[in-house]
Amino acid sequence: MVNRSSEISGFYKLSVEERLKLLGSFSDLTQEELEVLRMHGSLNTELADKLIENVVSTFEIPVGIAPNFRINGKDYLIPMAIEEASVVAACSNAARIARASGGFVSESTEPIMIGQIQIVSYDSFEKLKNVILEHETDILKLANTRSKTLSSMGAGAKGIEIRTLEDPQRSVVVHLLIDVRDAMGANVVNSMCETVASYLEEISGCRTNLKILSNLTPHRVSRCKAIFRKDLIGGENVVDNIISAYNMANVDPFRAATHNKGIMNGIDAVLLATLNDWRSAEANAHTYHTLTGNYSLTRYSKTPDGNLLGEIEIPIAVGTVGGSTNTVRKAAIFRKILEVKNSSEFANVLAAVGLAQNFAALRALSSEGIQKGHMSLHARSLAASVGALNEEIDLISDTMVKNGTISMSKAKELLEDIRKRTNK
Ligand code: MEV
Repeated sequence: MVNRSSEISGFYKLSVEERLKLLGSFSDLTQEELEVLRMHGSLNTELADKLIENVVSTFEIPVGIAPNFRINGKDYLIPMAIEEASVVAACSNAARIARASGGFVSESTEPIMIGQIQIVSYDSFEKLKNVILEHETDILKLANTRSKTLSSMGAGAKGIEIRTLEDPQRSVVVHLLIDVRDAMGANVVNSMCETVASYLEEISGCRTNLKILSNLTPHRVSRCKAIFRKDLIGGENVVDNIISAYNMANVDPFRAATHNKGIMNGIDAVLLATLNDWRSAEANAHTYHTLTGNYSLTRYSKTPDGNLLGEIEIPIAVGTVGGSTNTVRKAAIFRKILEVKNSSEFANVLAAVGLAQNFAALRALSSEGIQKGHMSLHARSLAASVGALNEEIDLISDTMVKNGTISMSKAKELLEDIRKRTNK
């Protein structure tokens, strides 16, 4: 029988094989899929050579699972590919706390992307604007010839915006507003822009330059909230400290960069595990403040009973169709584990992960600091990197943390000691 609860305490204490067994049961994985996860690589150089240019090898990165997530009443196990210790643990822990108050409530707007066409030479702005608006219906019709699929779904190019810029050429920019449904949308948006640009030149005599999607997607935004109970996070004092940390991030760009980086630790890790474009997600998130005026993508306040209400508003453009997920077997299996049915559900999950990650960071920073947890995980990874195995890793990392010296040379020394004692 398939076990559908993602609430798993002590997941971190299990062996990799035990975790795979649980995962197999939760996500209904076949023996063959589990075997693919056990092997070291599912991307061979022949396939890699078709994905990008000048291939010489492929690259591995750890993938962990964050349990405990409940989002809009549904349980998720979240695959996260990341090289940084603490991120998966922090995310799982935050999800466990949010779960105690019912989990995350997340929603996403319609998937409207913006395609930009830059017009660099024209006679009069008013004349240009009027010509474009007079031809709006034809422009949208022409754009929609580039995607029969979107048109058949009643989606595709829906509207136009015209902006003027303060650059030296006083560029006029035409925005095509395009409903891309379950795609990330880059290809279709770019194709529509190129087609429409030639038509704009034809009807107005103007000259166009750039024709490309915008990675800033203010019409494609996800919002998520959760309550973190004060008794589970160290009391009302921690609630106040988290609110104070958020207030700082919202006005200070130096803090905001780190604060939002923490949010993207989680979101990027999920995007990477499922082989999605995390650079566009980064660009989108980090430029959103230019439109909202709020540096922080999250917001915290106190509920009447003194608990912490966490909220995130973040532009997210991800797809569940197209892209390269399906070309790489492991990415496809991680998508199966994530089990999102469409781009809006995917964005809802990412927003929840971003909020969880940010809450976890602020909680640690507002109480014991992040170094304590971080250093013990760092100690484990140092122990592994000098060749320690199984219980040797625990022994070495526990000793280093206890003695306060966490370094590669210390890990080596301790490993030599252990092996001398056990004659290995
Ligand atoms: C580290 O990768 C992320 C944090 O610095 C985020 C934050 O400071 O909010 C812990």
